[in-house]
Order: sequence, then structure tokens, then C-alpha cells
Amino acid sequence: MRDGDSTAAALAALAWQIEAGADEAIDIVPADRFAEAAEAPARVEPAAVPQNRAAPNRAAPLDDEPQQVNRPRLADASAGPIPLRTPPPALVDAPAHTLARAARSLEELREALMAFDGCPLKDTATNLVFADGNPASRVMIVGEAPGADEDRAGKPFVGISGQLLDRMLAPIGLDRTSVYITNIIFWRPPGNRQPTTAEVAACLPFVERHIELANPDVLLLTGGASAKTLLARHEGITRLRGRWFLYESTDMSRPIPALPTFHPAYLLRDPAQKREVWRDLLALSEKLGELAQP
Ligand code: URA
Repeated sequence: MRDGDSTAAALAALAWQIEAGADEAIDIVPADRFAEAAEAPARVEPAAVPQNRAAPNRAAPLDDEPQQVNRPRLADASAGPIPLRTPPPALVDAPAHTLARAARSLEELREALMAFDGCPLKDTATNLVFADGNPASRVMIVGEAPGADEDRAGKPFVGISGQLLDRMLAPIGLDRTSVYITNIIFWRPPGNRQPTTAEVAACLPFVERHIELANPDVLLLTGGASAKTLLARHEGITRLRGRWFLYESTDMSRPIPALPTFHPAYLLRDPAQKREVWRDLLALSEKLGELAQP
């Protein structure tokens, strides 16, 4: 085989894996992380504090210690890639932060976004895609970025992924009157490309304020970009989904339980994963029941 052929074959194999949802590089030799964790000295996770923030926004997994926020963790401390929640200082958008913090209501936040010029995606998009559903809902769903249908309608999740999302929510008794839906990106990336780190960073202060103002009981984070950004985690969605985390930001009165799950667009490509999402939705429904107990 010629060099060019093997490169093309390797690229084709990589593209196939990405299409199949493999979004993490795993070592060739298996590593016993439990043994490593047992040997490592206890360390507190580094705070995800952009330079101009007053307080950290971080998430703690709730798998085994439901009440504790920001508890020390042994396994994945500082060595991993920088999570999106910690944009490099050059990307921290001070005007975005100030504008977002100044909003006292969801309407003011929408107006602030209309006035905001710090995200270049706005120049190519047709509409701002802010939110859909009921802002007083107990459940807030945060997706990734608007597509062509959403860009046209100015509403999140109205295309084929949104229709699947509606069909997934119905069996647990939820619909757009009982959920509130948004994305981590407010304008459609051209050609539905992945948003850049800078675009995510520009929108993030508004997303955080959005969650503070909506103040839901639980967050459902659909897809890796949403989960990794809001939870400041570097694992892929395959590892994050189905686990409860606590989401916190500067001006929140209490942390909010957050559950990552697969994105409906991924389920359209790989319907076998619907079984996992069904489990996540049952967990969501159960959590709503628990939180409703006096
Ligand atoms: N995918 C998303 O993540 N959000 C939308 O609004 C539409 C598709």
C-alpha cells in the first residue's frame, strides 16, 4: 500500500469513528485508573475561574455523595485538557459578562443578546435563537447550537432533532408547556459546523445568566458540547451521560442537579442509543419526583 493510500484509509477510519460517536481518544494499553487514584495524593479540582469572574462555576458529580458540592476528587485533577468552561483569558469576554449580569429578567437577557456584537456568528445567522417552551418549567434543557430550521424559526429544537426530543419527552409526561429549552450557542454556526472555543466563550456568560434567571429544578444537558461546557468536564458524553452533577454559577442561590444525556441528533444516527437515553429520562423523572417531596 502506498503512503497516500494508508493515510486516506486512516482518515476514512477516523471519520467513521467520529460519525459513530467515538469522541474520545483512549490509550492502546489499558490503564487501571482505580489503582492510580488510590496511589495519588488527594487533590482538589482546580477552580474553573476565568480571570474576571468573582466566583467559580463548577460541577460536582453526584453519583455517590448527593449532598456535597465541589468535593475533592482524586482521579482527574489538573492534568487533562482545559475544559471549555475555562476559556483562556484572551477569550473571556468582559463586555458579554457585564451585559449578561445586568439582565434582571429573561426579556432583558434576550434584549442584551440582541444588542451584543461579541459573537461573530450573529453576522451570518438569520435570527437569534434564544429559547422555547415554558420559562417557569422545572426542567431546563440545554442543547448545543441552532441548525438551519432553528435559524429560520428563531426557536431552538424545531427541526428533526427537536421532533425526536419531543417524542422522547412525551412518555415521561413532558412537553413544551412543561420544559424550557435553549442552547449554549445563540446563533447558527454556518453550515452547521462545530462552534469554536471563542464562540462558546462569547455566549457562555449569557447561558449562565439564562440558567440563573430561569432557575429550574433540574438541567438536562443534551450532547457533549453542552455537558462539557456547563459542567467544566473534559470527558466525552459517553462517560458523562446518565450521571448527576451539581451545576453552579456566580449568582445562584443553590446548585442545580444536572444530567447529561446523548443529543437527539446522535440518536438519529445511532438509534440503538435510545435505550440509554430512556434510562436517563427515567432518572430525570425520578429526580423531579424526589425534589417535589416536602
Ligand atoms: N440541535 C441543538 O443542539 N439545538 C437546536 O436548537 C437544534 C439542534
